Parts: sequence; C-alpha cells; structure tokens
Amino acid sequence: MSNYHIKNLEEYFQVYRESVNHPESFWEEIAEENFVWRKKWNNVLECDFSKPEFKWFEGAKLNITENCIDRHLFARGDKTAILFEPNDPSEAAQHITYKDLSKRVNAFANVLKSKGIVKGDRVCIYLPMIPALAIATLACARIGAIHSVVFAGFSSTALSTRINDSACKMIITSDGSYRGAKTIDLKGIVDEALETCPGVQSVLVVKRINSSIQMKEGRDEYLEDLLLNVSNECPAETMDAEDPLFILYTSGSTGMPKGMVHSTAGYMVYTAYTFKNAFQYKEDDVYWCTADIGWITGHSYIVYGPLANGATTVMFEGIPSYPDFGRFWQIVEKHKINQFYTAPTAIRALAKENLDFVDKYDLSSLKVLGSVGEPINEEAWHWYNNNVGKRKRPIIDSWWQTETGGIMICPIPYVTPTLPSYATLPMPGIQPALMDENGNELKGNQVEGKLCIKFPWPSIARTIWGNHQRYKETYFSSYENKYFTGDGALRDDVGYYRITGRVDDVIIVSGHNLGTAPIEDAINEHPAVAESAIVGFPHDVKGSALYGYVTLKEVGEHRNHENLSKEINQIITEHIGPIAKLDKVQFTNGLPKTRSGKIMRRILRKIACNEMDQLGDTSTLLNPACVKEIIDGAL
Ligand code: PRX
Repeated sequence: MSNYHIKNLEEYFQVYRESVNHPESFWEEIAEENFVWRKKWNNVLECDFSKPEFKWFEGAKLNITENCIDRHLFARGDKTAILFEPNDPSEAAQHITYKDLSKRVNAFANVLKSKGIVKGDRVCIYLPMIPALAIATLACARIGAIHSVVFAGFSSTALSTRINDSACKMIITSDGSYRGAKTIDLKGIVDEALETCPGVQSVLVVKRINSSIQMKEGRDEYLEDLLLNVSNECPAETMDAEDPLFILYTSGSTGMPKGMVHSTAGYMVYTAYTFKNAFQYKEDDVYWCTADIGWITGHSYIVYGPLANGATTVMFEGIPSYPDFGRFWQIVEKHKINQFYTAPTAIRALAKENLDFVDKYDLSSLKVLGSVGEPINEEAWHWYNNNVGKRKRPIIDSWWQTETGGIMICPIPYVTPTLPSYATLPMPGIQPALMDENGNELKGNQVEGKLCIKFPWPSIARTIWGNHQRYKETYFSSYENKYFTGDGALRDDVGYYRITGRVDDVIIVSGHNLGTAPIEDAINEHPAVAESAIVGFPHDVKGSALYGYVTLKEVGEHRNHENLSKEINQIITEHIGPIAKLDKVQFTNGLPKTRSGKIMRRILRKIACNEMDQLGDTSTLLNPACVKEIIDGAL
C-alpha cells in the first residue's frame, strides 16, 4: 500500500483544502492507489440530499476480504494479523498470522455456504471478544452475506428485536463467555431470544468455555464439527461498491433501535485511510483498540481499518479490572503495544485506582493514545496524559458515530497540537458546520451550535435497514442539504472543535448510546408503574448515568420503594441489558408536563443535575406543583 500518511501540519492543511475543493479526485486517488479492485468505478460520487442517497465508487467491483487478507499474503503472510489476548492472563495469547486468518475465514465462509447462506442474507453474530468474532464477520463478507453483530452484553429481548428487524437466517454464538472471574451463558440467552425469532434456521455454536449446553436437534451445531468437512479455500464473492457490508444497530431518541447500513467500498476506503492517519500506523506497529466488536469502534478499528492496512490488531477478551486494575498496562508491556485506543469511561475507572497499577509496567512502547465514544473530561485527559503517556505521547480525542462509519474530527498525532477535551480538526474530506437555532450556519470562529456535516464522505451510513424514511427524518430533515449528527459543538478561536454533548434524548452512559424511550417503555411494563421519564446526570466514572422518575399506579403505592427499584432494574436488564440500569430512581406523584401533555425533561434534567436554580419559568406547566415535590424528594 502506498504511503498516504500526513506528516506535518502544513501538509494537513494542504491535504484538507484539496479534499474540500476537489473531493471526488481526492477520494478517487486514495481508492485507486491503496486498494485492489476487480473493476474500477464509473462514478466517484453520486449525491442527492433530498432523497437522501449517497453512492461512492458506483460500478466498482471488489471484495473487502481480498483487501483485508488476500493481498497481504505474499508480503505479510507470516505477520500477525490478529493478536488474541484471553480473559485470563494465564492462558496463552494467540498470534493469528495473515495466512492463518485466510484459512480460517475461508473455512468459516464454506461452513456458512454449507448451511445455505448466500449473498445478501443477514447473519446475526452474538459472540464474545474471541477470534471467531472477527473471523465470522470476515467470513460473511467473503461470501457477501450481511453481518449484524449484536454486542454480547445485550439481553435476549434486545437480541431478538435485532434479529427480527433484519430477518437474520442464522445466528453465530458460543457456548458461553468469560467476563473477569464470571462466565456468562450466551447460548441460554440465544435460546430464549429464538423463541420469538421464527426466521432463524440455524445456530452455529463456537466452543469457548466448554460448558454443557442444550443443543436443539436440527437447528444447533458446533462450528468445530462443521469445520471438519470443509476446505479452507473459498472464492471471494464479487460485490458491488454499494452492496451492504453490514448492519449495526444504534439507539435513537425514540422507538426501535436503528439498523445502520454500511456499504462496501466507501466504508473500506474511509476506515482504512483514517486508521492510517489517526493512529500514524507504521508497518511493524502493534495496535490495540480495547472496544468490543459489538460496537462500531470494533468494526472499523479492530477489524476492517487495521486489516486493510496489513496491521497487527489486538483483540482482548477480558475487562480492565481482572485480575486487577493493572491488566491494560500489563498487556501494553507484554505485547509492546504502540497505539492504544480506549474509552474515557475506562480511563476514569482506572484513574480511581492506585497509581502502582500503572507505574509497575513498562509503557515505553506506546506512541499514540486514543480516546473515543464520549467527551473526555479534562481530569481524565490529564491522568491519561501524565500516567500513561508520561506527557510525551499525543492523545487523539476522536469524535465520530456509528452512522459515520469512521473517525470524523480528530487530531493527527505528532501533527495536530492537542488540547484537552478538544477533538480539534476535521479529517480530510470532512466538512463540519455549526448551526444556530434558526437553521443558519454559524460562520467564523468562536461559535457554538448544532453539529452538521455538509458534504458526504465515503463511509456515511446509506440507510436504516427497512426504514429509509426514518433515516431521512432523523439525519436530513433538520437542516437542508446537511447531515445532522445529534451533537452540539463549539469552534474555538483557532478553529478547533469541542464536542459539547448530545442535543437529543440519547444519553451516553460509559460510552454506550442509550435512547430514553426504550428504557421508559421497559419500566412502564412493570405492573405498578403508571409513567416514567429518564434523564442523564453526571457520574464520575460513567460520564453520565441514568436517573429515572417514576410515578406509580394505585397498586404500587404501598410497595417498598427499594424493592420496586430493584424490580425496575431487573425489567430493564431483561429488555435491554445491564448497561441501561438506573443509578437513581425517584418515585413521584407526577411528572412536569406541558399543556399538550409532553413531559418536560429539561426540568427533570436540571433537578437530576442539582441545578435547581436554573429551572426557568415553570408556571406555564400543566401541573407546576409537582416540580416542588420532585425537588423536595430529589436524590
Ligand atoms: O455524542 C457523540 C459521542 O458518541 C456518539 C456516537 O456514539 P456511537 O454511535 O455509539 O459511536 C461511538 C463510537 C464512535 C456521538 O454522537 N462521542 C463519540 N466520540 C466522542 C463523542 N463525544 C465527544 N467526544 C468524542 N470523542
């Protein structure tokens, strides 16, 4: 792959200008020089914001696995592609070379075919962070099946909702997973989910914890058994540039989770280009992103971006606190990690522990530190900088979203001077715009508004699976000819961006996007609950945590509140997963509402954040008296 690194700030500005003035030739050159194509495109970009429709490299034919695996076999066949570090440090790490990866992906692809999976079919993957997870995604891509990875911390209800929404024919899971000292019965969760998924014909089970599980005759099979009967060569399916590569669900402010659909060529080009530049990856570096492949960060920057660059990418099965709080740093020392990419919530949790956990390890291999998923507060930034980077390593605070596919605003390490809590400058090709309350773009510096992107980039999600209208309404109807991110941001006096947080009803808890509506729907299923409203409030580890206001029906009025809170959290765990549990539950006699009956979350948010002096005028509410009662009962 030719070297497309940006090397200094002057070059960044030059490249950036070029990417804005001539986006098509800019991306065409990158696509042309750095990837293998079975056929070149007819058109670099077709863009229509009114539909909305974006097509990149239309007419091109390719297979992303040839770019991520096959083309590296000659020069990098014996290089480690995936370095697997197990949950338990006493278990040996696995070095999966590009040659091994090729065989394992091809064999897995043949198993999928033998089970009747063909191009365009949807396959759900519900696996822990073991090599089979990355291999399963690539095996789908090999034969043109669309993967839908569901984070293995989601509940059976959340899983079945996602399986049914995209009509998956198959699910790939494991006999269980390790999480620190615990094991989790993933297969049991799948069995429960499948009670309401009539479309799933087969279940492939990967052995991980060797537990004895129920296998349903005619439906469930062990992957290991099926692998015995297949060859490890499987021709790559020829895909169109715009064929969907995967679906990944993300929460919206209302309703069902949104199945964001990513395309093949544009996604590949953008994730590979940004991986190389955002991490300044060099040939022999060992790169580690601690995210789970169940999230977009894992898709783009554990699997596709790194492998398209022939990189060594680490997959970690465990958690930062097991067997102790030094686990991350022990792994950095053990594998001489060069680029380390994690979430602010992990940094904040580790910063609470004794510094010995960091200091006893040699972290001198580190060259770049990354942060993703939520704003990194200054305190966490300084802890990361002082104790991990030893004040010598740049921290790249990378802003992006499931919908954007790749990193959008981010310093380029050793090129862009960093500033705590600033994502700094846009990546080449990305044109941010800040909008005021009246829908006008705020020009110049020192402005704050709603963050939009005013020109398409190659990895923009193309639609919401099965609901293009919702895609249009959510992202393209607030501002004409612009993609609306749902975030607020400011641009400072030198043009640096700082993301100020969500401006909709999505709350980011420990880096996970949670919509308020599905949580409220779950709570309202409790027989004692009349109504509920969820807001976020600051939390020193999670960034934000959930505060629930709950009003009870008569049947619940005499119930013990502590028990009710537990039951409510149990329902949330069953419907969504433990990540959506409430930290605080306040029982109230009413919720503040407008005269049209809409719950005034703004007021509830202020109370949860202990900002009672900023409630504003509450006299126009339908039921102003309830505000005082809520303040008096605030937790
Ligand atoms: O609010 C922003 C926040 O996370 C949202 C996207 O979440 P998700 O689709 O789950 O993707 C997370 C991983 C890319 C954004 O709308 N966010 C993400 N990164 C940052 C951030 N907020 C501030 N700073 C960031 N670096």
